[in-house]
Amino acid sequence: MINCNMSKYSIVVLDEVFSTNGYALENMPFLEDGTVIFALNQTSGRGRYNRKWISDNSGNIYMSLVIKPTNLNNYPITNLTQYLSVIICEFLQSEFSLNPQIKWPNDILINGAKISGILAESSYKNNKIEGIALGLGLNVNMTEETIHQIDQKATSLHVLLNKKFDSELLLRKLMDKFYQNYEEFVRYGFKSIKETYIKKCGFLGKKIIIKENESQKKYIAKAIDDEGLLIAIDEFNNECKIITGDVLC
Ligand code: BTN
Repeated sequence: MINCNMSKYSIVVLDEVFSTNGYALENMPFLEDGTVIFALNQTSGRGRYNRKWISDNSGNIYMSLVIKPTNLNNYPITNLTQYLSVIICEFLQSEFSLNPQIKWPNDILINGAKISGILAESSYKNNKIEGIALGLGLNVNMTEETIHQIDQKATSLHVLLNKKFDSELLLRKLMDKFYQNYEEFVRYGFKSIKETYIKKCGFLGKKIIIKENESQKKYIAKAIDDEGLLIAIDEFNNECKIITGDVLC
Protein backbone atom coordinates (compact mmCIF):
# COMPACT_ATOMS: atom_id res chain seq x y z
CA MET A 1 0.00 0.00 0.00
CA ILE A 2 1.35 3.42 -0.96
CA ASN A 3 -0.13 6.26 1.06
CA CYS A 4 0.10 9.55 -0.75
CA ASN A 5 0.61 12.48 1.61
CA MET A 6 -2.11 15.13 1.58
CA SER A 7 -3.97 13.13 -1.00
CA LYS A 8 -7.51 11.88 -1.01
CA TYR A 9 -6.60 8.45 -2.30
CA SER A 10 -4.34 5.54 -1.53
CA ILE A 11 -3.09 2.98 -4.02
CA VAL A 12 -3.09 -0.79 -3.51
CA VAL A 13 -0.81 -2.48 -6.07
CA LEU A 14 -1.60 -6.07 -7.08
CA ASP A 15 0.68 -8.10 -9.34
CA GLU A 16 -2.24 -9.90 -10.92
CA VAL A 17 -5.97 -10.11 -10.33
CA PHE A 18 -8.96 -11.41 -12.31
CA SER A 19 -10.42 -7.91 -12.58
CA THR A 20 -9.71 -4.81 -10.50
CA ASN A 21 -13.43 -3.99 -10.60
CA GLY A 22 -14.32 -7.53 -9.47
CA TYR A 23 -11.74 -7.33 -6.66
CA ALA A 24 -13.02 -3.94 -5.50
CA LEU A 25 -16.65 -5.15 -5.50
CA GLU A 26 -15.82 -8.37 -3.61
CA ASN A 27 -13.84 -6.48 -0.97
CA MET A 28 -16.07 -3.42 -0.80
CA PRO A 29 -16.91 -3.73 2.94
CA PHE A 30 -13.19 -3.55 3.81
CA LEU A 31 -12.14 -0.81 1.38
CA GLU A 32 -12.22 2.87 2.20
CA ASP A 33 -13.49 5.62 -0.05
CA GLY A 34 -10.58 6.71 -2.25
CA THR A 35 -8.83 3.33 -2.42
CA VAL A 36 -7.34 2.71 -5.85
CA ILE A 37 -6.90 -0.95 -6.81
CA PHE A 38 -4.11 -0.96 -9.37
CA ALA A 39 -3.13 -4.25 -11.04
CA LEU A 40 -0.14 -4.97 -13.24
CA ASN A 41 -2.17 -7.63 -15.02
CA GLN A 42 -5.77 -8.86 -15.19
CA THR A 43 -6.70 -12.41 -16.16
CA SER A 44 -10.39 -11.61 -16.82
CA GLY A 45 -10.55 -7.88 -17.43
CA ARG A 46 -14.08 -6.88 -18.31
CA GLY A 47 -15.65 -4.11 -20.35
CA ARG A 48 -19.12 -2.71 -20.91
CA TYR A 49 -21.86 -5.10 -22.03
CA ASN A 50 -19.92 -8.14 -20.76
CA ARG A 51 -17.17 -7.61 -23.27
CA LYS A 52 -13.58 -8.59 -22.52
CA TRP A 53 -10.96 -5.98 -21.75
CA ILE A 54 -7.77 -7.41 -23.23
CA SER A 55 -5.13 -7.20 -20.50
CA ASP A 56 -1.47 -8.18 -20.41
CA ASN A 57 1.43 -7.32 -18.14
CA SER A 58 3.14 -4.94 -20.54
CA GLY A 59 2.59 -1.99 -18.18
CA ASN A 60 -0.86 -0.64 -18.88
CA ILE A 61 -3.18 0.94 -16.36
CA TYR A 62 -5.86 -1.37 -14.99
CA MET A 63 -7.40 0.27 -12.00
CA SER A 64 -10.59 0.70 -10.00
CA LEU A 65 -11.25 3.62 -7.70
CA VAL A 66 -13.51 2.83 -4.76
CA ILE A 67 -16.09 5.53 -4.19
CA LYS A 68 -18.36 5.56 -1.16
CA PRO A 69 -20.45 8.73 -1.40
CA THR A 70 -21.53 10.20 1.92
CA ASN A 71 -24.83 11.39 0.49
CA LEU A 72 -26.01 9.09 -2.27
CA ASN A 73 -29.25 11.02 -2.87
CA ASN A 74 -27.42 13.98 -4.36
CA TYR A 75 -24.45 12.12 -5.81
CA PRO A 76 -24.14 12.43 -9.65
CA ILE A 77 -23.55 8.69 -10.08
CA THR A 78 -24.84 8.50 -13.66
CA ASN A 79 -22.23 11.03 -14.80
CA LEU A 80 -19.26 9.63 -12.90
CA THR A 81 -17.81 7.82 -15.93
CA GLN A 82 -18.24 10.99 -18.01
CA TYR A 83 -16.36 12.96 -15.35
CA LEU A 84 -13.48 10.47 -15.52
CA SER A 85 -13.50 10.59 -19.33
CA VAL A 86 -13.01 14.37 -19.23
CA ILE A 87 -10.16 13.98 -16.72
CA ILE A 88 -8.44 11.42 -18.96
CA CYS A 89 -8.77 13.72 -21.99
CA GLU A 90 -7.31 16.66 -20.08
CA PHE A 91 -4.53 14.45 -18.76
CA LEU A 92 -3.56 13.07 -22.20
CA GLN A 93 -3.66 16.57 -23.60
CA SER A 94 -1.59 18.28 -20.90
CA GLU A 95 0.88 15.45 -20.35
CA PHE A 96 1.46 14.29 -23.95
CA SER A 97 0.01 17.03 -26.20
CA LEU A 98 -2.43 14.48 -27.66
CA ASN A 99 -5.87 15.40 -28.92
CA PRO A 100 -8.24 12.80 -27.46
CA GLN A 101 -11.92 12.59 -28.36
CA ILE A 102 -14.79 11.14 -26.38
CA LYS A 103 -17.09 8.62 -28.00
CA TRP A 104 -20.35 8.81 -26.04
CA PRO A 105 -20.68 7.97 -23.29
CA ASN A 106 -17.10 7.50 -22.16
CA ASP A 107 -14.67 5.82 -24.56
CA ILE A 108 -11.49 7.77 -25.24
CA LEU A 109 -10.14 7.71 -28.77
CA ILE A 110 -7.07 9.12 -30.43
CA ASN A 111 -7.32 9.47 -34.20
CA GLY A 112 -10.35 7.15 -34.09
CA ALA A 113 -8.54 4.39 -32.15
CA LYS A 114 -9.58 3.50 -28.60
CA ILE A 115 -6.94 4.10 -25.95
CA SER A 116 -9.08 3.95 -22.84
CA GLY A 117 -12.35 2.51 -21.56
CA ILE A 118 -14.29 3.06 -18.36
CA LEU A 119 -16.65 0.75 -16.49
CA ALA A 120 -18.44 1.72 -13.27
CA GLU A 121 -20.06 -1.05 -11.22
CA SER A 122 -21.74 -0.91 -7.82
CA SER A 123 -22.03 -3.32 -4.93
CA TYR A 124 -25.24 -3.37 -2.90
CA LYS A 125 -26.10 -4.08 0.73
CA ASN A 126 -29.74 -4.24 1.82
CA ASN A 127 -30.78 -2.83 -1.58
CA LYS A 128 -28.58 0.23 -1.06
CA ILE A 129 -25.36 1.05 -2.86
CA GLU A 130 -22.46 0.12 -0.59
CA GLY A 131 -19.80 1.43 -2.94
CA ILE A 132 -18.86 2.07 -6.55
CA ALA A 133 -15.89 0.56 -8.40
CA LEU A 134 -14.93 3.12 -11.01
CA GLY A 135 -12.79 1.07 -13.38
CA LEU A 136 -10.40 2.40 -15.96
CA GLY A 137 -8.28 0.67 -18.55
CA LEU A 138 -5.67 2.83 -20.25
CA ASN A 139 -3.38 1.32 -22.86
CA VAL A 140 0.01 2.67 -21.86
CA ASN A 141 2.81 0.32 -22.91
CA MET A 142 0.82 -2.21 -24.93
CA THR A 143 2.66 -3.20 -28.09
CA GLU A 144 1.33 -3.18 -31.64
CA GLU A 145 1.17 -7.02 -31.67
CA THR A 146 -1.13 -7.24 -28.63
CA ILE A 147 -3.23 -4.35 -29.85
CA HIS A 148 -4.02 -6.39 -32.97
CA GLN A 149 -5.82 -8.93 -30.74
CA ILE A 150 -8.40 -6.26 -29.86
CA ASP A 151 -11.54 -6.56 -31.95
CA GLN A 152 -11.76 -2.83 -32.67
CA LYS A 153 -9.40 -0.06 -33.73
CA ALA A 154 -7.20 0.52 -30.67
CA THR A 155 -3.95 2.18 -29.71
CA SER A 156 -1.62 2.82 -26.76
CA LEU A 157 0.69 5.62 -25.62
CA HIS A 158 3.64 3.44 -26.61
CA VAL A 159 2.35 2.95 -30.15
CA LEU A 160 1.59 6.66 -30.50
CA LEU A 161 4.72 8.08 -28.93
CA ASN A 162 7.25 5.25 -29.37
CA LYS A 163 8.33 5.37 -25.72
CA LYS A 164 7.82 3.30 -22.55
CA PHE A 165 6.14 4.89 -19.55
CA ASP A 166 5.98 4.32 -15.79
CA SER A 167 2.30 3.42 -15.50
CA GLU A 168 2.18 3.81 -11.71
CA LEU A 169 3.52 7.35 -11.98
CA LEU A 170 0.94 8.14 -14.66
CA LEU A 171 -1.79 6.70 -12.47
CA ARG A 172 -0.79 8.98 -9.59
CA LYS A 173 -0.84 12.04 -11.84
CA LEU A 174 -4.22 10.99 -13.16
CA MET A 175 -5.65 10.54 -9.67
CA ASP A 176 -4.29 13.93 -8.57
CA LYS A 177 -6.13 15.46 -11.52
CA PHE A 178 -9.27 13.47 -10.72
CA TYR A 179 -9.45 14.93 -7.22
CA GLN A 180 -8.63 18.51 -8.26
CA ASN A 181 -12.18 19.21 -9.45
CA TYR A 182 -13.99 16.29 -7.84
CA GLU A 183 -15.73 18.32 -5.14
CA GLU A 184 -17.12 20.67 -7.77
CA PHE A 185 -18.34 17.68 -9.78
CA VAL A 186 -20.04 16.16 -6.72
CA ARG A 187 -21.73 19.50 -6.06
CA TYR A 188 -22.81 20.53 -9.55
CA GLY A 189 -22.87 17.20 -11.41
CA PHE A 190 -22.67 17.07 -15.21
CA LYS A 191 -23.02 20.87 -15.47
CA SER A 192 -19.50 21.23 -14.06
CA ILE A 193 -18.02 19.34 -17.03
CA LYS A 194 -20.62 19.87 -19.76
CA GLU A 195 -18.68 22.43 -21.77
CA THR A 196 -15.41 20.47 -21.78
CA TYR A 197 -17.23 17.21 -22.42
CA ILE A 198 -19.02 18.63 -25.47
CA LYS A 199 -15.77 20.07 -26.87
CA LYS A 200 -14.34 16.56 -26.81
CA CYS A 201 -17.34 14.93 -28.51
CA GLY A 202 -16.11 14.82 -32.10
CA PHE A 203 -19.23 13.05 -33.38
CA LEU A 204 -21.80 15.81 -32.72
CA GLY A 205 -23.56 16.90 -35.93
CA LYS A 206 -22.50 13.67 -37.67
CA LYS A 207 -24.28 10.49 -38.75
CA ILE A 208 -23.92 7.81 -36.08
CA ILE A 209 -25.14 4.30 -35.42
CA ILE A 210 -26.27 3.38 -31.93
CA LYS A 211 -25.69 -0.23 -31.08
CA GLU A 212 -27.51 -1.80 -28.17
CA ASN A 213 -27.25 -5.55 -27.76
CA GLU A 214 -27.94 -6.87 -31.24
CA SER A 215 -29.89 -3.88 -32.55
CA GLN A 216 -28.33 -1.04 -34.54
CA LYS A 217 -30.12 2.20 -35.43
CA LYS A 218 -29.05 5.18 -37.51
CA TYR A 219 -29.22 8.73 -36.14
CA ILE A 220 -27.69 12.15 -36.47
CA ALA A 221 -26.03 13.17 -33.21
CA LYS A 222 -27.49 16.54 -32.23
CA ALA A 223 -26.46 17.53 -28.72
CA ILE A 224 -25.61 16.51 -25.18
CA ASP A 225 -28.18 17.66 -22.62
CA ASP A 226 -27.72 18.87 -19.04
CA GLU A 227 -27.88 15.30 -17.75
CA GLY A 228 -25.16 14.11 -20.13
CA LEU A 229 -27.62 12.22 -22.32
CA LEU A 230 -27.20 12.15 -26.07
CA ILE A 231 -29.88 13.87 -28.13
CA ALA A 232 -30.13 12.36 -31.60
CA ILE A 233 -32.43 12.57 -34.62
CA ASP A 234 -33.67 9.25 -35.97
CA GLU A 235 -34.44 8.27 -39.59
CA PHE A 236 -38.02 9.57 -39.24
CA ASN A 237 -36.83 12.96 -38.00
CA ASN A 238 -37.86 12.28 -34.39
CA GLU A 239 -35.71 13.70 -31.64
CA CYS A 240 -34.63 10.94 -29.25
CA LYS A 241 -32.82 10.86 -25.90
CA ILE A 242 -30.27 8.10 -25.94
CA ILE A 243 -29.71 6.67 -22.48
CA THR A 244 -27.72 3.48 -23.13
CA GLY A 245 -25.83 1.87 -25.97
CA ASP A 246 -22.63 2.42 -27.91
CA VAL A 247 -21.97 5.00 -30.58
CA LEU A 248 -20.50 3.55 -33.76
CA CYS A 249 -19.29 6.31 -36.04
C1 BTN B 1 -15.11 -0.59 -21.90
O1 BTN B 1 -14.59 0.19 -22.69
O2 BTN B 1 -15.91 -1.46 -22.28
C2 BTN B 1 -14.75 -0.49 -20.44
C3 BTN B 1 -13.43 -1.14 -20.14
C4 BTN B 1 -13.02 -1.04 -18.68
C5 BTN B 1 -11.76 -1.81 -18.41
C6 BTN B 1 -11.25 -1.59 -17.02
S1 BTN B 1 -9.64 -2.29 -16.78
C7 BTN B 1 -9.77 -2.00 -15.07
C8 BTN B 1 -11.19 -2.31 -14.65
N1 BTN B 1 -11.31 -3.71 -14.34
C9 BTN B 1 -12.03 -4.38 -15.23
O3 BTN B 1 -12.26 -5.59 -15.24
N2 BTN B 1 -12.51 -3.51 -16.15
C10 BTN B 1 -12.10 -2.17 -15.89
